[in-house]
Amino acid sequence: MSFEREVHSSPEAAAAACALHILDSLAGRTATLALSGGTTPRMMFAEMARRPFDWTRLHIFWVDERAVPPGDEQSNYRLAREHLLEPAGVPAANVHRIETELPPFEAAKRYQAVIREFFALSEGELPRFDMIHRGIGADAHTASLFPGEPLIHDEAGIAAAVYVEKFKQFRVTLLPGVLRAARQTAMLVCGADKAAPMAAITGPTRDPLRWPAQVVTGTGAPERWFIDEAAAGL
Ligand code: 6PG
Repeated sequence: MSFEREVHSSPEAAAAACALHILDSLAGRTATLALSGGTTPRMMFAEMARRPFDWTRLHIFWVDERAVPPGDEQSNYRLAREHLLEPAGVPAANVHRIETELPPFEAAKRYQAVIREFFALSEGELPRFDMIHRGIGADAHTASLFPGEPLIHDEAGIAAAVYVEKFKQFRVTLLPGVLRAARQTAMLVCGADKAAPMAAITGPTRDPLRWPAQVVTGTGAPERWFIDEAAAGL
C-alpha cells in the first residue's frame, strides 16, 4: 500500500506541512487540485495563501460540497474563498466550484459536465487530478461518502448528489473512481477523534462500506497523510 505518513506535533504544523507539500507538488506547471472542506482545512488554506505561488497555472475544483448556497457558512467553497482564493488572488477563471445554487442532482450533473469539458474526457473516462486534498470524519467518511452509502461501490461515475442522513442534508461529491485516479492525494487529519477511524482505515481489515476512506486507502493509490500527534494516538 503506497501509504506515507507524517506525524506533526500540532494541527498547525501538520496543516503547514500539508500546504507546502501540495504547493511544491504542483509548482511550475499547469495543474489541477481538488479541495475538501470541513474545519481542518482552514489552517492549511491560510498557509497556502501565504506562500509565493503562480496561481495563474492552477485550476481548483472541489472534492465535495454541501447543498447550500455558495455564501452559506457551511459552504466548502466559502471556506476556500475566504481563506485561500481571495487572499491568494486565485483568478476567477481558475475556480471551478460546484454550483449548489442549483438543486443537488442538477448541481452534480453540471459539475460532471464542467469536469468532462475541462479534462476533455471521452465517454466513460475519469479525470485524473494532479492533486486531491481530503480529510476523514470521525466516522471514517471521506469526501461526502459516508458509511453505508451505496455509491462507495461506484467505479465509473465522476460526481453525484448524495443524501447524508446524519446531517439531513444533500451533498455533491466526487466518486471513488475519481478519488483513486488522483496522481497524488494529500490527507490532512488532525484531532483525537480521528485516531480510531484512521487506525481502522489504514488497518488490515477492508470494509469500505463501514470505513469509506478505504475507497482509496489500501487500494495502492498514492496517498501521503499529514497528521498531528492526537490523530496518531500519541
Ligand atoms: C466536508 C469535507 C469532509 C471532511 C471531513 C473532515 O464537506 O465536510 O469535505 O469530507 O474532509 O468531514 O472534516 P473536518 O476537517 O472538519 O474534521
